[in-house]
Amino acid sequence: MVPRPIGWISSWDEDGGANLAPYSFFNAVSGTPMLVVVSVGQRRGALKDTLVNLRSRGAFCVNVVTEDLIEAMNASSAEVGPEIDEFELAGVGRAVSEVVDAPYVAECRAVFECLVRQEVALEGSTNVLVVGEVVGVRLSESLPMADGTMIVDSEALRPVGRMSGSEYMMPGNVRILPRPG
Ligand SMILES: Cc1cc2nc3c(=O)[nH]c(=O)nc-3n(C[C@H](O)[C@H](O)[C@H](O)COP(=O)(O)O)c2cc1C
Repeated sequence: MVPRPIGWISSWDEDGGANLAPYSFFNAVSGTPMLVVVSVGQRRGALKDTLVNLRSRGAFCVNVVTEDLIEAMNASSAEVGPEIDEFELAGVGRAVSEVVDAPYVAECRAVFECLVRQEVALEGSTNVLVVGEVVGVRLSESLPMADGTMIVDSEALRPVGRMSGSEYMMPGNVRILPRPG
């Protein structure tokens, strides 16, 4: 399934430590309410920090990965223990959401602030699917909207998609195709 969006997920742990990691088993799945899903796997049989934090804090932010942040995103995927702050590891600023109990990437120009609504066990898989509701949207004032709409101009945003393994899709030409009928 390529390209896939990348949910760059930030959260607090129980002791107030910050966590940041990319997840490409991720997508938007409902408009009303606005829901996103993320599928968290295991690391050598242990829970990943993101899942532990989402369970204990019930909140997270999704930081949209843009071309300028791709290396920071990759750096934050290092398999490190919960005592390591991946914001520092990735060299990005940490800002604090006023809407949900989670930090977000200060440089990120589009952030979704989410509450955990549901957890779904996936039969036969060790992955766990977490459903989050977007209760806040933070957009940089530098982002233009498409003419006469509230839709962010995607060429200006320059979002990155994940291909297989270490390959990423850089933003290219946008084609506009009106829907039939
Ligand atoms: C682009 C990208 C996408 C990833 N997608 C996923 C994913 O969907 N599910 C998953 O469990 N791990 C995924 N990973 C691996 C996690 O980011 C990695 O295991 C990370 O260390 C988890 O951090 P955490 O323990 O702080 O949550 C991905 C890594 C990269 C670079």
